Amino acid sequence: MSELQILVADDDAQMQLAIKASLMRAGHNVTITADGKAALEKLDEQSFDVIISDQRMPNMTGQELLAAVQERGMTTPFIMITAHGTIDQAVEAMQLGASDFIAKPFGAEELVRIVDRVTAPEVKGHRSSGNKGAMGRPIVTNDPLMIRILEVCEAVARSDATVLVQGESGTGKELIARLVHNASPRVNQPFVAVNCAALPDTLLESELFGHEKGAFTGAQNRKIGKFELAHGGTILLDEVSEMELPLQAKLLRVLQEREVDRVGGKDPISIDVRVVATTNRQIEEMVKRGEFRADLYYRLNVIPITLPPLRDRRGDVRLLVEHFMRKFLGPSAKPLTAEILSSLEGYSWPGNVRELQNAVERAAILSSGKAPEKTDFLLSGEEFHARLTSSPSSATSSLAQSIEVIDSASEEESLVIRAGMTVSEMERKLIFETLRATNDNRTQAAKELGISIRTLRNKLNEYRSQGLFEG
Ligand SMILES: Nc1ncnc2c1ncn2[C@@H]1O[C@H](COP(=O)(O)OP(=O)(O)OP(=O)(O)O)[C@@H](O)[C@H]1O
Ligand SMILES: [Mg+2]
Repeated sequence: MSELQILVADDDAQMQLAIKASLMRAGHNVTITADGKAALEKLDEQSFDVIISDQRMPNMTGQELLAAVQERGMTTPFIMITAHGTIDQAVEAMQLGASDFIAKPFGAEELVRIVDRVTAPEVKGHRSSGNKGAMGRPIVTNDPLMIRILEVCEAVARSDATVLVQGESGTGKELIARLVHNASPRVNQPFVAVNCAALPDTLLESELFGHEKGAFTGAQNRKIGKFELAHGGTILLDEVSEMELPLQAKLLRVLQEREVDRVGGKDPISIDVRVVATTNRQIEEMVKRGEFRADLYYRLNVIPITLPPLRDRRGDVRLLVEHFMRKFLGPSAKPLTAEILSSLEGYSWPGNVRELQNAVERAAILSSGKAPEKTDFLLSGEEFHARLTSSPSSATSSLAQSIEVIDSASEEESLVIRAGMTVSEMERKLIFETLRATNDNRTQAAKELGISIRTLRNKLNEYRSQGLFEG
C-alpha cells in the first residue's frame, strides 16, 4: 500500500490522536484539523487522497464540509465518522455523496481497511457504505472489498434508499439485491423481481405497472403490476439498462411520484416500495451516449454498489469451488488437488461466479464420486452434455453408490442429487430446478445451463411427450 495524503477533520483531541496513530502506522501521511473550516483551508493549500471527517463539529458539520468539497468540484474520497448506532446519519452521508462511513467506536484496523477500500481503483469516484449480517443465502467471500460491500449493503438495507448494483454478468448482483431485502425491515414483505431484458417494452410496461381490462387488444382481464405486488416490500429491476427510453420516462415518473398508473387506468395508485436495480452494462457510458436517461440514472444510483469481477478477487475462487463442491456433493466432497485449484485460480472466469458454479456442478456430476479431474472443469455446455449422454450406464451406477443425499432444507437453492438417480433424471432435475430459479425464463435458464435455447426446447419437448412436463 502506497503512502496516502490524508486530511482529518475532528474536534475531539483523543480521536485526532487515535486516527493519526492508526493511519501513520499503516504508512500514511496525516494532516489533522479541528473543524470543517480549517479542513477547507488545508484543501486550498494542498491536495489530499482521502478526507476523513467527523459528522458533528463546531463551525461546520461533516455534511457541510462534504458539500463544500463537492462545490469545489473535488472528487476526493470522503469518509464520514458517525456517532455510535446512528445508521440514519450514515445513510444520509452516503446519499449526500460520502464514499463510505465509519461508526464510532472503531478500531485502527477497520479504519485502515476503509481507507484502502475507498482508494482501491474499483471504487474510486464511487460512493458506497455499513455492517455485516446473516442472510438467507450464503455469500461466500473472503475478499476485503467484497466484505466491505456486504457491510455497506446491510447498513443501507435499513433505509429505504434506492440501490443500483453494477457488475459483470454472474458477479452476484441478484444475490446482493436479495441481501438488501433480507437485511431490511421489509424482509417479511414481498420481494418481487422483474427482468427488464426478458420482455419487449410494451409487455414490460404492463408487467411493471399493470393494466385495466380492455386497455389494449388482448387485455381480457385486469392485471396487477409488479410494483403493486411489491407494495410494502422490495422490487428488483433486474437489467434496468435494457429498458427503452419511453419506458424509462414512465419509470422515472413512478419513482418520483411513488405512484403507478395501470395501463388504461384512470387513477394513479400509490405504492410504497424499495427499489433495487441492477445492470451489467456501463450505464454511465449509456447516459453519455443518450441511451439511458440521466435523471433516471441519478434517481437509481442513490447508493451505488459495484461488484468486482471474480478475476479481481482470485482468493475467492478456492473458497467458492469448495463451497459449491459441498453444495453439489455434500460433506463427502473429495478435496481437489493443488494443481486443479491453482489452474482454476488462474482462469479468467469471464462468466464470474455463475460460470464457476456451473463448472463445479458439471465436474461434480461427471466425476461421480471419484476425485474430479482437471478436464471435468471448464467444459462448454455442449461438451458437458455430450459427455453425459455418451456414457450413461457407467456414470449412473457409480453415481448411485456415491452421491450423497443433500438436505434441501439446509440450502434453499441447492440442487438435490439423490442416490439412485439416473443421469437423465439428474439432467431433467437440473433443467427443472434452473427453470424454477429463473422464473421460467428460458433464455436465462439456457444461459445458466450453458446450453442453447434450442437444446433446452428440445429437452422440454421430450419431457412433454413423456408426460413429465406441462407448459
Ligand atoms: N459470493 C457468492 N457466494 C455464493 N454464491 C454466489 C456468490 N456470488 C454469486 N453466487 C451465485 O452465482 C450465481 C450468479 O449470481 P447472480 O445471479 O446474483 O449474478 P448476476 O450478477 O445477477 O448475474 P447476471 O448479470 O448474469 O444476471 C447465483 O447462483 C448465485 O447464487
Ligand atoms: Mg442477475
